[in-house]
Order: sequence, then structure tokens, then C-alpha cells
Amino acid sequence: MKLHQTMFCMLTIVIIIAGSFGIDKQKLMFSTYNYLKEIDLDTGVVQKLTSQNEQVYSLAYDIKERYMYVPKYDTGDIVRFSYPTNHTVMSESIVTTSSPFGISFDSVNRHLYWTELSSTGMIKRCNPDGSNVTVLLSEIKPTALALDIQHRWIYYGQEQNPSKIFRTNFDGMDKTIIINYVASYVYGIGVDVDAERLYWMEYEMGDLRSAWYNGSDVKTIISTNATDNNLNIDINGDFIFYTSNNQIMKIDKSLGQNPTVVHTDTEKIYGFLLYKQDGENTIIKIL
Ligand SMILES: *[C@@H]1O[C@H](CO)[C@@H](O)[C@H](O)[C@H]1NC(C)=O
Ligand SMILES: *[C@@H]1O[C@H](CO)[C@@H](O)[C@H](O)[C@H]1NC(C)=O
Ligand SMILES: *[C@@H]1O[C@H](CO)[C@@H](O)[C@H](O)[C@H]1NC(C)=O
Ligand SMILES: *[C@@H]1O[C@H](CO)[C@@H](O)[C@H](O)[C@H]1NC(C)=O
Repeated sequence: MKLHQTMFCMLTIVIIIAGSFGIDKQKLMFSTYNYLKEIDLDTGVVQKLTSQNEQVYSLAYDIKERYMYVPKYDTGDIVRFSYPTNHTVMSESIVTTSSPFGISFDSVNRHLYWTELSSTGMIKRCNPDGSNVTVLLSEIKPTALALDIQHRWIYYGQEQNPSKIFRTNFDGMDKTIIINYVASYVYGIGVDVDAERLYWMEYEMGDLRSAWYNGSDVKTIISTNATDNNLNIDINGDFIFYTSNNQIMKIDKSLGQNPTVVHTDTEKIYGFLLYKQDGENTIIKIL
């Protein structure tokens, strides 16, 4: 009895300490055709957030106002919802357009950026509530988009065979070609601000590659050999996460070998986003 009381007391103290400091949880939100789900990367627990019938190729988050942004490729709506939330997720459509694909939030000037995938495609931006939609530039089939918030550059890929990787400033000016030849489509792109390197996934062959910001020193991190299956990528410190059919994989970006399986779903995984959540249900960082 005494031992039990002591242990109970110790356990209570641990819980109180953990509660008062908050525990950072690494999480990942991802989309399948039928659901948006969230996974706690420490426990592996998966939770369904909303159901849908949509291809959602990317996700974006506004840390300040706490909104998750979801581009619905099939219906053409860009929706947002408060997140984290104690209630059922309540989505509101903020932009109605055609085939939104890549999406990202600029926390500095508070704009939402996205690509529209068509032969007369565009890169656009708007205010967080969807007002003031502005066309930045026209591009043939633009796909994945990544913002380098520090140096103020937008990097984006293409659904062309072969394709190119481009860079433009946040107003759509000074467009340059960074990678002149990519063997296939690029549906996943990421920037590593610390290492000043760019990462992308080549869809058809499933090759994950990287280069300096200026496009030199192209390296293959892994040839997944999972043809026509690898879509979105995201970077967290030393690791790159990527989707491979119904799995999310994680690989060390420098070693580039032995990827580990983060999650296996029942459905193909389209887009995902890595973030850190604290004990009080607040997202504190996009990883
Ligand atoms: C959810 O509810 C808890 C407990 O009532 C509260 O502390 C927390 O701030 C709420 N979170 C949000 C996002 O409203
Ligand atoms: C709308 O966008 C234009 C072009 O970027 C900008 O000059 C203007 O200040 C914006 N207006 C509002 C109300 O956001
Ligand atoms: C590209 O950037 C790398 C790293 O900053 C640098 O070492 C290299 O000289 C640059 N190459 C060109 C062609 O500018
Ligand atoms: C993909 O194929 C290449 C060539 O056969 C091989 O070297 C590589 O290890 C394979 N990749 C994986 C992840 O199995």
C-alpha cells in the first residue's frame, strides 16, 4: 500500500511537471483521397480529422491565426479551418479557382501562395481570408511550390516531361531557371534554409534529389524505384520525409540510405505537413 502511494505520488508529480512545461509533440497532417488525418510521430497514433473525396497535393499552415489551408484539386476550392480545435473541423472555402496544387503560407507578409496546374497555369497569392487574389505569373503546368521565407524566393516545379525547376521572387518577378533538366514531373519540393539547398522528388523514377540554391552540385539522395508513386516531400532538420504510395518515409538527408517507414495507410497518401504542437494544443512551429 505504501509503495503504491509513493508511486502514485511520483506519477502525479511527473504529470504536473509535464503539464506545466508543455510537451512538444512532433506531428504530421496528411491527405488521402478520402480523409485528412493527423499522426503523432512520437506515439504513432493516427486520428481522422475530416472526410473528403479529393486529391489534396499539399497543405499549408498559418501559425499566427492558427488556420490550416487545404487546396482541393478536383473541385478547385481552397479551404481553411481553425486548427488545433476542440470542435469538429469546420472548413470554409476562401478561394474558388481551378486545380490548385502546391500551397504555402508566407508568415512574414501574411500571404497565401499557390500554383494552379494547367497548361495555362498560374502562380497566385491572396490574403489569409482569401481576399485580393493576385496573379504573380503564368507558367506551363506548375506543381509543387516552396517558399524560402528568409531570402524571399519561391521555388516551384512542373508537370512536364522533362521539366524544369524555377525560382521567382515573392512578387513573381526575376524568374530564373534553377534546374534546367529534370527527367519527369516534380510534385514535391522543399528548401533547407540552413544548408541553402533545394530538394525535390522526381515522380516517374522516384528519385529524391538535391542541389545548392543556385542549381549546382545535383545529388541523388535515394532512388526509391517506386515509379509513379512518390508525391510530396518535407524537410525537418537532418531528415527528409516523403510519400511513397500509401506510406510516409523518412530518410537522413546527408547519408541518404535506409529510409524508415513513418506510417502505412490503407490509402495512397497525397500531401502532408510536419509541425510541432505544444501541450496546450497550439502549433508552435512548422518543421
Ligand atoms: C481546448 O479546451 C481546453 C480545455 O477546455 C482549453 O484549455 C484549450 O485552450 C482549448 N483549445 C482551443 C484551441 O480552443
Ligand atoms: C492587393 O494586392 C495588391 C497587389 O499585390 C497590393 O498592391 C494591394 O495593396 C493589396 N490590397 C489589399 C487590400 O490587400
Ligand atoms: C553555387 O553555390 C555554392 C554554395 O554556395 C557555391 O560553392 C558555388 O560556387 C555556386 N556555383 C555557382 C556556379 O555560382
Ligand atoms: C533502386 O535500384 C537501384 C539500381 O538497381 C539500386 O541501386 C537501389 O538500391 C534501389 N533502391 C532501393 C531503395 O531499393
